Amino acid sequence: MIKQIHEGFTVDLRLDEEWISRSLATDIRTGITKTKKSLPPKWFYDELGSELFDKITQLNEYYPTEAEREILNIQAAKIAEISEADHLIELGSGSSDKTRSILDAFASSNQLDSFTAFDVSEEILLSSAKQIKQRYPDVNVRAIVGDFDHHLDAVPQTGKRLFIFLGGTIGNFEPEARQRFLSSLTSQLKTGDSLLLGTDLVKEIPRLELAYNDPDGVTAAFNKNILSVLNKNLGANFDIEKFDHVARFDTDREWIDIGLRSRSDQEIYIERLNLMVNFLENEIMRTEISAKFRPEGIEQELTAAGLTIQNFWTDSANDFAVTLSTLA
Ligand code: AVJ
Repeated sequence: MIKQIHEGFTVDLRLDEEWISRSLATDIRTGITKTKKSLPPKWFYDELGSELFDKITQLNEYYPTEAEREILNIQAAKIAEISEADHLIELGSGSSDKTRSILDAFASSNQLDSFTAFDVSEEILLSSAKQIKQRYPDVNVRAIVGDFDHHLDAVPQTGKRLFIFLGGTIGNFEPEARQRFLSSLTSQLKTGDSLLLGTDLVKEIPRLELAYNDPDGVTAAFNKNILSVLNKNLGANFDIEKFDHVARFDTDREWIDIGLRSRSDQEIYIERLNLMVNFLENEIMRTEISAKFRPEGIEQELTAAGLTIQNFWTDSANDFAVTLSTLA
């Protein structure tokens, strides 16, 4: 563990370059050698990938960001009051901009002692921790560069804690992995700690699919960028032009299935894995799932993980939900 003081906040690096490159290699080899090829979505977010995702959140078609912002703006004070937390921990914090209204609400009720931002992407994390320290100079700010599948134990135990997991990112997990994640998060909680969870809701298929097939092709560029990540970091020779972005709602699993479809039969060489990979024409390699939820399902899953629901809010259009639950 490397701890350093940085512009008034603490940085805890759990992911060094070696760990990252080893887990990238293992993840990609595992996924790409399966009969149904798949790549884990956490590798989307290099610098360009993070920028493209930021652009996605500004698209009219991509409704989740605004819907969640609406809920948080309206309910922030209530969240502070009900959770009684004084230590906010944001998982997968990205640029932390939606968390701003929550932080403001906690600060104005004098309940903000500590803020911990937890993300895989060091650059974004440091710049957002810095901004938060500037805005709230009296708050103890920490940045943890880690993977929440492995390093949740790096989160300090201080105070009454509210874990914040927004954006619908939990939808990237398949149901079994989701339950494992929620249970392992719960096992880190002390009595009285809470979780604020953002989840996208099941809705009409055309709106769901449009959110992942924007006409400007930003989502397509974001999706294809994972191939550049592999070219750059694993010495692969993908020709990005030879794949098409596909995203469709799977009505049985109730998730958006996102992938890259090969335009032709082709052979790819991944130098750092010393691996040849064959793609058939029209073969789809999954790059992400984005699960959509029903209120009953959210309640059932949080309860199964051992949490007690405190509140459940949706935006005015009923597109998105934010749930506050506690370890009783
Ligand atoms: C960051 C996982 C919440 O699932 O909507 C957006 C990622 N992918 N468009 C989502 C994403 C394509 C996003 N999450």
